Amino acid sequence: MNIQQNVSLKSYNTFGIGVNASHFLKVETVLQLQKALQLSVYPEKFVLSGGSNMLLTKDISALVLQIAIKGISIEKETNEFVHIKAMAGENWHNFVLWTLEQGYGGIENLSLIPGCVGTSPIQNIGAYGVELKDVFVACEAMHRETLELVEFSKEECNFGYRDSIFKNKVKNKYIITSVTFQLTKTNHITRTDYGAIENQLMKMGIHNPTINDISEAVIAIRQEKLPDPAIIGNSGSFFKNPVITKKKFDAFIKKFPKAPFYEVSENEFKIPAGWLIEQAGFKGKRFGDAGVHTKQALVLVNYANATGNEILDLSEKIKTEVKARFNIKLETEVNIIR
Ligand code: EPU
Repeated sequence: MNIQQNVSLKSYNTFGIGVNASHFLKVETVLQLQKALQLSVYPEKFVLSGGSNMLLTKDISALVLQIAIKGISIEKETNEFVHIKAMAGENWHNFVLWTLEQGYGGIENLSLIPGCVGTSPIQNIGAYGVELKDVFVACEAMHRETLELVEFSKEECNFGYRDSIFKNKVKNKYIITSVTFQLTKTNHITRTDYGAIENQLMKMGIHNPTINDISEAVIAIRQEKLPDPAIIGNSGSFFKNPVITKKKFDAFIKKFPKAPFYEVSENEFKIPAGWLIEQAGFKGKRFGDAGVHTKQALVLVNYANATGNEILDLSEKIKTEVKARFNIKLETEVNIIR
């Protein structure tokens, strides 16, 4: 096994934080993963996938396992549906493009999300009216201690808004090795009700969008609003959109009648954190190399050489100000590695 020492992780995390890993191994097969987990000379292992949902605040003194297991296969097929199994290390957006080339529908709204297939179930990635759980069939994962390969069904994953069993009951216990999706071959169910998509399709002069049109619309919206991690370091939404009770919501909306919101259920209302942060005066603000994106206040950015702690300090300032102004507690969506 080609274990490297003192490897900079700057290009392995989309925030572009320049910390080092004491030991680093690119894992290319499931068997290699099993063997690497057994290496007792490195008692600490740290699993790294696309590095698109983490904030590294210090050097990692562990064996970093970079999951690069590739492969896409068709598991089962009918006239209407296809079950596709993609290995964990497949780049998410390239996988979406591959499904579109085959004419398969279901994940076009999730175009251009950074990261890899293997981590997509952990936070149930979602955008523009679609969540991973809508197309998820099952995933395979290796237990970090017993090395057993286990299948998790959709029910077992217990998906919620940016949430799953992998963030709760079995947190850090398993490494996902593959995900199986159910996609449509015909009669695609196109979802364009998310406002921004409709506007974009209109701009493009499209009335009956195909799955490819929707993907193109989503790519255009994301490119317009969200910073490209290859140019400005970021991890997408830094916070979750807070969900508050009806009682709290009634008081909030009376005070801030212009605030956007979504009704989640009779007693739950979601307020866009981006709006709260913008109102709190942080949009486009910069503190050294740490900043709040100019076009989407929910995204914190590293302009060049910010440290993880500088980004973290900025996030704390934002939390404090939002709590003081709106009495709403923001929760971090990104994984903070302390
Ligand atoms: N808004 C502002 N100011 C801002 C940003 C947003 O007022 O700076 C307002 C917008 O005007 C709009 C509302 O907030 O009324 C919602 O904004 P947007 O459509 O941009 O979506 P979001 O709720 O901020 C969520 C996801 C994104 C996903 C988009 C589109 C979370 C935490 N974020 O953002 O996901 O792309 O919806 O579906 O749920 C990610 O998770 O990394 C991510 C980018």
